[in-house]
Amino acid sequence: MDMDWPYFPLFVRVADLEVLLVGGGEVALRKARLLTKAGARIALVSESVHPGFAEMATAVRVMGPRFAPEQLEGVRLCIAATSDETLNRQVAAACEARGIWVNVVDDPLASRVITPAIIDRSPVLIAIGSAGQAPVLARRLRERLEATIPFGTGRLARFIGEARKRLKGRINPDQSRRLWEYFLDSPAAEALLHGDETLAQPTVDQWLAGGQIRQGEVWLVGAGPGDPDLLTFKALRLMQSCDVVLFDRLVPGAIMDLVRRDAERVFVGKRRDQHTVPQAEINAELLRRAQAGQRVLRLKGGDPFIFGRGGEEIEPLARAGVPFQVVPGITAASGCAAYAGIPLTHRDHAQTCLFVTGHARADGQLSLPWDTLARRGQTVVVYMGLSTLDVLCAAFVAHGLPGDWPCAMVENGTQPNQRVVVGVLADLPRRVSEAGLSGPSLLIVGSVVGLHQTLGMPARRAAS
Ligand SMILES: C[S@@+](CC[C@H](N)C(=O)[O-])C[C@H]1O[C@@H](n2cnc3c(N)ncnc32)[C@H](O)[C@@H]1O
Repeated sequence: MDMDWPYFPLFVRVADLEVLLVGGGEVALRKARLLTKAGARIALVSESVHPGFAEMATAVRVMGPRFAPEQLEGVRLCIAATSDETLNRQVAAACEARGIWVNVVDDPLASRVITPAIIDRSPVLIAIGSAGQAPVLARRLRERLEATIPFGTGRLARFIGEARKRLKGRINPDQSRRLWEYFLDSPAAEALLHGDETLAQPTVDQWLAGGQIRQGEVWLVGAGPGDPDLLTFKALRLMQSCDVVLFDRLVPGAIMDLVRRDAERVFVGKRRDQHTVPQAEINAELLRRAQAGQRVLRLKGGDPFIFGRGGEEIEPLARAGVPFQVVPGITAASGCAAYAGIPLTHRDHAQTCLFVTGHARADGQLSLPWDTLARRGQTVVVYMGLSTLDVLCAAFVAHGLPGDWPCAMVENGTQPNQRVVVGVLADLPRRVSEAGLSGPSLLIVGSVVGLHQTLGMPARRAAS
């Protein structure tokens, strides 16, 4: 017969069933674990029983060491999971003869039913099957989906399920569909996903009272130091749900490509006249758009709360009562250090690590606590220190560190064009200038820098 699907996907309630499981090894144990999660009891047929079955002892009844067709009496579902292919097929044939649904592990041809790869956000379950043809591919797909489906999805589904029960008969199916469409796009749904249940019921009540629940909000999201693989799951999810994104120079194209395609893009890094959009204008734009009902993604390089003005950007929102979330990102210090093979702390080198800014004040002066910074036994990471590098290095020496104290500059850290220039305080400015570093660069000062030659990934080591 011509068919599009070799199997029909179906969820089966097994809570009131005893499932016959033939086989007592590791594979059978995995099946038993899944079945008991769904409330099934297990009738086990096996000569030897894996000790792992002890954890579900109350749900397992050992029927005997050997399979006999009479054991199928009253059975509706059977799983053959022995390492003996002939025995598995005998079990399958006996089941087929009695109209019992059977699954034979790793043998789709002998199986009436097959089990999928599962993403568990109970009560939401996502099943992926490849008709038994490419189980490894199905598992890979599952891993990918695992990364994008929030762990709080189950909480969201439970809330909707409970509320639908309460609302049964009070609203018609069309209203119900519209309510949940609105709800899923609301800040309340987002809050539920990360464990805050306080907004959910009031949002539903507001909708029932005839109000709109489409409310804007701002997500202040750290995009990390540049490698898209370093995004958090949450960052990626919000990037794919926003109406508009406000971004700046530090966020590379490879990360912007992951933002929802039809979201509006607003660049706030530099204007055409090369001046940064004033902070007050960015703050006002975030507020204006959220109040107009948009889900606004403010995407920032690294971590928004580390030299990212994140605090300044959410202050007006907090004052105006606009919902917002802050999502941390990997800060440049962590990213650059890891990818350059320079541990920021190390028992033999540094017990303290300080992050400071090398950005000069409007009067051109650096205002830094030099007595605290110019010390051995610690690592100092200087953000925004490229243009003031010579002043910084000279100040470290003037306040007590030797001229041959190790330091390094990491440019475009974690990105394919990362460059590391290693030197000492006395010569790093010259080396950096000769190398022509001009992208985002981070200065690391401390004897941990000496570890770069051994711990740096070979392709990313500085030329010595
Ligand atoms: C305004 S600060 C933002 C820092 C960001 N919020 C963070 O947590 O990484 C910009 C500075 O961060 C550093 N930086 C950011 N990304 C970097 C990267 N990929 N490689 C090297 N330095 C980087 C540079 O010192 C740059 O001048």
